[in-house]
Amino acid sequence: MLDTLLGWIDDRSGLITATRRVLQHPVPPRTGWWYVFGSATGLAFLLQVATGIALATAYVPSSGQAYDSLRFISEQALLGRFLRGMHYFGASAMVLLIGIHVSRTYLMAAYKFPRELNWLTGAVLLLLTLALAFTGQLLRWDQTAVWSVIVGAAQAGRMPIVGEQIARFILAGDTLGGATLSRFFAFHVFFIPALVFLLIGVHLLLVLRHGISERPKAGEPVDPATYRRRYDELLQREGVPFWPDAAWRDVVFGAAMVSTVALLAVIVGPPDLGPPPDPSILEAYPRPDWYFLWYFAVLAMAPQHLETIIIVAGPLVFGALLLLVPMFNKGERSVRRRPMAALLVVFIWTMILVFWVAGERADWSPDFDAAPLPAQVVRSTDPTIVAGAKLFHDKGCEFCHAVAGYGGKRGPDLTDVAARMSPDQITGRITNGGPNMPAYVRVLTSEETAAIVAFLNTRR
Ligand code: HEC
Repeated sequence: MLDTLLGWIDDRSGLITATRRVLQHPVPPRTGWWYVFGSATGLAFLLQVATGIALATAYVPSSGQAYDSLRFISEQALLGRFLRGMHYFGASAMVLLIGIHVSRTYLMAAYKFPRELNWLTGAVLLLLTLALAFTGQLLRWDQTAVWSVIVGAAQAGRMPIVGEQIARFILAGDTLGGATLSRFFAFHVFFIPALVFLLIGVHLLLVLRHGISERPKAGEPVDPATYRRRYDELLQREGVPFWPDAAWRDVVFGAAMVSTVALLAVIVGPPDLGPPPDPSILEAYPRPDWYFLWYFAVLAMAPQHLETIIIVAGPLVFGALLLLVPMFNKGERSVRRRPMAALLVVFIWTMILVFWVAGERADWSPDFDAAPLPAQVVRSTDPTIVAGAKLFHDKGCEFCHAVAGYGGKRGPDLTDVAARMSPDQITGRITNGGPNMPAYVRVLTSEETAAIVAFLNTRR
């Protein structure tokens, strides 16, 4: 019965024969574990589609309800917390895996003749993956997510000539609001995934057309005149069927990846929702998700006059590098004969890691968890001074300034501020603010300012 049915389907559609041909097409021998990251990236994407559709059934993409609907998903909906966790760690997996896959194909020079288009479609897929990560983050619609996008749009706005249009396109208007959310939602769930499906299709067709690249060997350079003949000879001599000889590793690795994501979703869970976005909070310091944190760290640590250059040149250089790679489509593939390629990859991963660690520590962002100054630090029972010390915490000075080790590191340490500043100077600074310090003229009453100054005047 089943055989007749399958036979009928195959006769009318040809699907089963085609699948069998794909699964059994010969691939080069001894490809090994380095070749699993492409299929794992694709699998991570499918996982995102599945969990994303599930989340979209309960998520409300409107600025008034997005936050509450996510609360509902995380706290009450059946499996909601698990699905959000899967979607979050799945996104992390996809970004990480595509990074490894790109590094691997670059290190093994799999982009050389005749696979230049494989590389270029892959490069676009890398950019689309980052775009998915960026647009997805905003859908969380909590404070840091919203501010991350505002900062991103502000950065884009600094590009010469086209900057303003790009910023307006990202925000869907002049400021961030409901229209921004609708736009990000449409891009995140319809437009970008559709492009990704299309490009993965092209990418896979190209893989079938040119075959999986063989393990590079030093001293066997790629020559477009002879490469195809030598590749075919290799397949005839030593080729193995893709399934099961090579594909079993993809299956094992893919299953391990999905299990890890599921395990993390259960044990760690999705990122906590921060406070809902509040446009009146000026001292918001966004912390994007980990895969963009390093870039924020670069911007935060760059001297101000270099910032614009980095914003403009950084993405341009990165994009140009990606496009230029397949121009070098001849010659040695083995990384032993391409030491500069190895150095470049090590350099890029090290930079990302270093800046990511700096972003994790984030000395430049205010410490919103700073505890109120204890009595032994205040060292006075004078009511004005005690009130000033309390205001120093309550009005947020302590987020940025430390006194005797309590508080943030964004601004100068004020432990001995009275030794270098007169009360008038301190008052002036509080009223007018300064670079990276808000002006408090409309935030504090003159009595409050006087109390803070009285307290700071004891610090010498
Ligand atoms: C968002 C972070 C931030 C907050 C909040 C903040 N400051 Fe500052 N503050 C800074 C930075 C950064 C500087 C150094 C830049 C400058 O020269 O203005 C600074 C400078 C100062 C200085 C001069 C210190 C020196 O050694 O030159 C004083 C005094 C000061 N702040 C007091 C306060 C008080 C009091 C409050 C609360 C009412 C406050 N700050 C809130 C970031 C902040």
